[in-house]
Amino acid sequence: MNITIIGTGYVGLVTGACFAETGNKVSCVDVDVSKVQKLQASKIPFFEPGLAELVARNIEQGRLTFSTDMTSTKDHMDVYFVCVGTPSRADGAANLDYVYQCIDQIADLTDETIVVVKSTVPIGTNAKLRFYLDQKGKDKIHLVSNPEFLREGTAVEDSLKPDRVVIGARGDKVAEKMHALYKPFFLRSERIFMMSPESAELTKYAANCYLATRITYMNEISQLCEEMDADVNQVRQAMGADHRIGPQYLYPSVGIGGSCFPKDLRAMKSVYDEKGLRPEILKKFCKPTTIKKIDSSKRYVSILVGKAICLEKFLRFGERRSKPIPMIFVNRQPWTSFANYSMHMQRCGYLILRQVKIRKRYLVMPLK
Ligand SMILES: NC(=O)c1ccc[n+]([C@@H]2O[C@H](COP(=O)([O-])OP(=O)(O)OC[C@H]3O[C@@H](n4cnc5c(N)ncnc54)[C@H](O)[C@@H]3O)[C@@H](O)[C@H]2O)c1
Repeated sequence: MNITIIGTGYVGLVTGACFAETGNKVSCVDVDVSKVQKLQASKIPFFEPGLAELVARNIEQGRLTFSTDMTSTKDHMDVYFVCVGTPSRADGAANLDYVYQCIDQIADLTDETIVVVKSTVPIGTNAKLRFYLDQKGKDKIHLVSNPEFLREGTAVEDSLKPDRVVIGARGDKVAEKMHALYKPFFLRSERIFMMSPESAELTKYAANCYLATRITYMNEISQLCEEMDADVNQVRQAMGADHRIGPQYLYPSVGIGGSCFPKDLRAMKSVYDEKGLRPEILKKFCKPTTIKKIDSSKRYVSILVGKAICLEKFLRFGERRSKPIPMIFVNRQPWTSFANYSMHMQRCGYLILRQVKIRKRYLVMPLK
């Protein structure tokens, strides 16, 4: 198939490279000129295991190209994937401006195609986009919701061998086309879940909010462990051995950070608010004080320095020193090059507020 990926960030680049790997002709478009220039020269703007090789191979074999010009994709009309960012607005709702920009760009180019929204968008977005396109007289542009579940650090593996693929589509022909596109990723057992766009949109938020809940819950358990001389690692291992619970996302940590969890929690809460519903768990979660209370606990600094130094002692030490403190930032995911959005960076901001001078060090750590 001919595929155009709009937004060549983490999700777009990995998705584009993996679709090229299964034999599709993929054109990736981005508004960021320097990013596109780098990619055209086979240089990946971030570290992700296996991605550089995948991109280089598919460029060389003529299946993967990069451009800043949407009109260059006029011949790539089978499927458009929207992979642009959906950051938080000030009120917590997801900002869909980039998504609407993409829809406008596609509608200017063509009357008939499939547009797959891979960006994380709140439940009801597909329906709003449908209405928007119908108003423009573009009723033959078919919309699909196809949320992404890759994890930074294992993004290529997650995309080539996904746990599952969720497709929210209306109409048999569109659903069949999407199914055909993903079938090569499931050679052994197929785990493609076909559903309505609304269910697909909600599946993504329900999954992310649940994972964030598990992490925060384990952080609460770890507080009690420290007070009562219990070992949280022993507790989590024994808990995770129960197949009803499972071992993933039970690690106590510096808290929920990253580019997705905090914004998705806020966006989910804002949809509940819009509908006049009261989500008790999310409501508690989204209060900054709750996150701070649970996740900024003094003991998490011990994770940073590898021994039990509490934040207050660390601060007093920092304030006494005139020289900067060397500080190692453990990245928020193993095998990634990103420390931005990590809770460590927030701690760093806190230390700077207390006028502690910091020398930054970034570390790519295989923490698995
Ligand atoms: N990063 C993850 O781990 C992850 C995982 C699952 C889902 N998601 C979701 O996927 C979406 C994208 O996330 P990301 O991490 O890839 O974001 P990103 O910021 O890395 O990439 C977005 C890209 O879109 C480009 N862009 C913006 N507007 C554009 C336009 N009109 N035309 C062309 N390009 C445009 C930007 O320049 C940028 O390169 C978000 O909704 C995010 O929540 C992210």
